[in-house]
Amino acid sequence: MKLRIIIYSILYCTLFNSTQAKIIKEQSNLTIAVIGTGYVGLVTGVGLAEVGNKVICADVDAKKIQMLKNGIIPIYEPGLREIVDSNVLAGLITFTTDIAQAITQSQVIFIGVGTPMNDNGSANLTYVKSVLDTIASSINGFKVIVTKSTVPVGTGAWIRHYLEEKGVSRDLFSLVSNPEFLREGNAVSDFLHPDRIVLGTESEQALEIMKDVYKMFTNQGTRFIYTNVATSETIKYASNAFLAVKLSYINEIANLCDATGADIKTVAFAMGLDKRISPLFLNPGPGFGGSCFPKDSQALLYMADQNHMKMPVVQASLITNEIQKTKPAEKLLALFNNDIQNKKIAILGLAFKANTDDIRYSPAINTIEILLDHGAIIHAYDPAAMDNMRAIFPHITYCTSTYDAINQAEGIIIMTEWDEFKTLDLQLLSDLMRNKVLVDARNLLDIHQLKEFGFIFDTMGHH
Ligand code: NAD
Ligand code: UGA
Repeated sequence: MKLRIIIYSILYCTLFNSTQAKIIKEQSNLTIAVIGTGYVGLVTGVGLAEVGNKVICADVDAKKIQMLKNGIIPIYEPGLREIVDSNVLAGLITFTTDIAQAITQSQVIFIGVGTPMNDNGSANLTYVKSVLDTIASSINGFKVIVTKSTVPVGTGAWIRHYLEEKGVSRDLFSLVSNPEFLREGNAVSDFLHPDRIVLGTESEQALEIMKDVYKMFTNQGTRFIYTNVATSETIKYASNAFLAVKLSYINEIANLCDATGADIKTVAFAMGLDKRISPLFLNPGPGFGGSCFPKDSQALLYMADQNHMKMPVVQASLITNEIQKTKPAEKLLALFNNDIQNKKIAILGLAFKANTDDIRYSPAINTIEILLDHGAIIHAYDPAAMDNMRAIFPHITYCTSTYDAINQAEGIIIMTEWDEFKTLDLQLLSDLMRNKVLVDARNLLDIHQLKEFGFIFDTMGHH
């Protein structure tokens, strides 16, 4: 097997002319199972293969696994195809629906399944439990079980208890919390060049194995945090909720700019020069979406409640965000004196952020709902997310391009900061639109040019 990996490595390096690849492809004897092959699981699996581990990616979704076996990437994520292809070619990554077999063939099991929000705000651990059931029924030797999914503080302790109750001997497994901090749209680069890797465990043996898994990252100088499981679990929620608070804060300041005529771009730039604040995550917008900030902030509030305490700051960020998500539609309605009945409105961008096809909790959903309630006719365009949005809004019109969407439109809302919306041809827009009315919910366009072309427009605090 080792010889085969070396041969594949040489082939890979010849094909891709990568000396770095040659160094990293020969370094690990571990086999890792990554259970759950979604946005995080797939990137984690291929990222761990890229640094020299042998990885089995397993998922219950047979369609997804078949696509991967056929060389088709089930999600839109820049750079993912290339790195999957090269690691398949190198023989370092395989795909299966046989979860039990992936577990029996591996020493380390990463759990990367979804932990969506329950109605009461808590994290739903049904999928994690199902993986644990398979581990319990198939375990065939010592395993390191790693929670890569975002799981509530205390889940590690609960997992230990759950497995023991299922008759799994304590000697057969150790638990590690290894939260993931990648962003969708930037996932491959974030995984391979993380700001930090957090490893929470009470087991020296598991820690040594995890150091081996992440050996290449030590070599490249990545900061590691070694801590206990509960602290590691807390770091993930504390980080996400902090970023959510930062976004709601800058959105509130942008709204104040709207009221006063100040310019949020200059305000945010000047704020960001203060190293304690940092310039990142200071772009106001239509509210944060995605599968994580909303659900993780809610889960944190639930945890606070369980511990008989309140977190008013976290709560406020969610309240502000709910209001913020109505702003783009409200701004458009204001520009039309509330009458958009039977008017064609173009929505540019459906994904919750650029460079992804993910629409979970996307503010575009709120915007479309409000506009439809007011009788608008929606023509939407997104470079990657239209198929996903069809499941929610099957009856709006999906267009083949920006200019297809805006043709004869009476108004436009830019919802997502895709690069192609930053360079809209305002002359063409002027020629094609019926009315030059626009809401730029991401502050992408040059307001001086919009004025020159005679647009009636609104922004998020940019003046
Ligand atoms: P996802 O929905 O894209 O993927 C989850 C996958 O798990 C699906 O493919 C599903 O079929 C599979 N699955 C469900 N039950 C299974 C089982 N019993 N066995 C095998 N596979 C099973 O979710 P995601 O966005 O990748 O998120 C996964 C976890 O990672 C969540 O806890 C999330 O909070 C966390 N996280 C996500 C991101 C992100 O950017 N999406 C970043 C950091 C952390
Ligand atoms: C976020 C975190 O950034 C990741 O570190 C974390 O791993 C992930 O959640 C997770 O736990 O799932 P993600 O949701 O993929 O990543 O994307 P972000 O880039 O954080 O954007 C989140 C939302 O904030 C988007 O709706 C985005 O448009 C919005 N945003 C972001 C702004 O409105 N302004 C900004 O300046 C930055």
